[in-house]
Amino acid sequence: MNNGNRKGLNIAICGLGTVGGGTLALLQKNAEELRLRLGAELKVTRIATRTLHPEKLSGIENLSNDPLDAVNDESIDVVIETIGGVDPALEVIRQALVNGKHIVTANKALIAEYGNELFQLAQANNVTLAFESSVAGGIPIIKALREGLAANKIDWLAGIINGTGNFIMSEMTSKKRKFDEVLIEAQELGYAEADPTFDVEGIDAAHKLTIMGSIAFGIPLQFNKTYTEGISQITPEDISYADELGYCIKHLGIARRSEKGVEMRVHPTLLSKSRLLANSNGVGNAILVHGNAVGATLYNGPGAGAEATASAVVADLVDLCRHIQSGAASPVYPPLGYREMPSGVSVVDIEDINAEYYLRIPAMDRVGVMARISSILQAHNISIEAVIQKEAISETVPIIILTHSAEERQLNKAIDAIEALEDIAGKINRIRVEPFHGEAA
Ligand code: HSE
Repeated sequence: MNNGNRKGLNIAICGLGTVGGGTLALLQKNAEELRLRLGAELKVTRIATRTLHPEKLSGIENLSNDPLDAVNDESIDVVIETIGGVDPALEVIRQALVNGKHIVTANKALIAEYGNELFQLAQANNVTLAFESSVAGGIPIIKALREGLAANKIDWLAGIINGTGNFIMSEMTSKKRKFDEVLIEAQELGYAEADPTFDVEGIDAAHKLTIMGSIAFGIPLQFNKTYTEGISQITPEDISYADELGYCIKHLGIARRSEKGVEMRVHPTLLSKSRLLANSNGVGNAILVHGNAVGATLYNGPGAGAEATASAVVADLVDLCRHIQSGAASPVYPPLGYREMPSGVSVVDIEDINAEYYLRIPAMDRVGVMARISSILQAHNISIEAVIQKEAISETVPIIILTHSAEERQLNKAIDAIEALEDIAGKINRIRVEPFHGEAA
């Protein structure tokens, strides 16, 4: 397969957008450092891209519009898939694996939704499917979970895992900027997905949480069971009321082992401003992982952007090259960290979780409304931790309630009952609170 670059790798890059372009640039910029680390060369000999720019690609032997050219090129050892999305990336990866090529991909949607099948295909063809860059940009969180923390039973992980969403929330909080304006800037900076609703509605974060949860708990990839809620319903008022109560709002992915199974959920979250995750701003990602031996560990860094993500792609190439140089017959690491998955661990339905909640209730300014709301909460076994009642906006007074821990099913019933009161002028905005009770986080 490998001709003439025996100790190094002959590489094809498919897709030359933000991540693919960043990877090519990084391989060129750090070529000497990489050569010293490996004693061999990581050589890009082929590029497939929709729009060919020969002037930018001097020195690359083979250029093409068709990624299948790369997949069918016998001299290629590894295909970097940075096309993104499912079509045609899925077919490119399938075909490359069947042809005995190793894959390095940044494609979290593909791993989260098709990974179970693709890892089997990689194993059947005795090649590696590496995906460090699919989660949290430049932060080596896959290696941390799968290798660095392999001695631990993971209790929980919680992270800010979408750079665009964090950038938007940070700018709205610190500079009172408007949502739409900040989103446009995130697109211009190359942070946002091709379809930015993936960032804003939490789908991108759910892809990443699905991957991390699978590695942390040894469960199959189950994207369709990851509860997903985005940031589009968060208003400047919520940010300001949360601030008054000592909280900020972050978009978190949380995966937690509980008595009922594994909770997998992505949603906006109130965090005390003193918590570690509250201080990751801008395009930063930050992931806390709690292992039963090590305790809490924090991984922080740039979660999106060309060079940061390319850093993780190239790290996978280095890993792969070292592995091939070692002469080992098959990849050292099972891709999801477990050779045998624990049996009977299911993903918990969101209605079965217990959490604390922030409620913003648009109530009419009438005698007794607070008492009626309280009695509904009491009837559903929900206890109140704090209440603030804001000044009336015309006839409506926003009532902000923080609850103690309650079952989500009961909370949903209480919200329905409160919204049905005549005193309530619209929908209640509910945001989950993450207290990290007693934990060094
Ligand atoms: N759109 C993603 C983000 C890119 O903003 O985090 C990195 O996965």
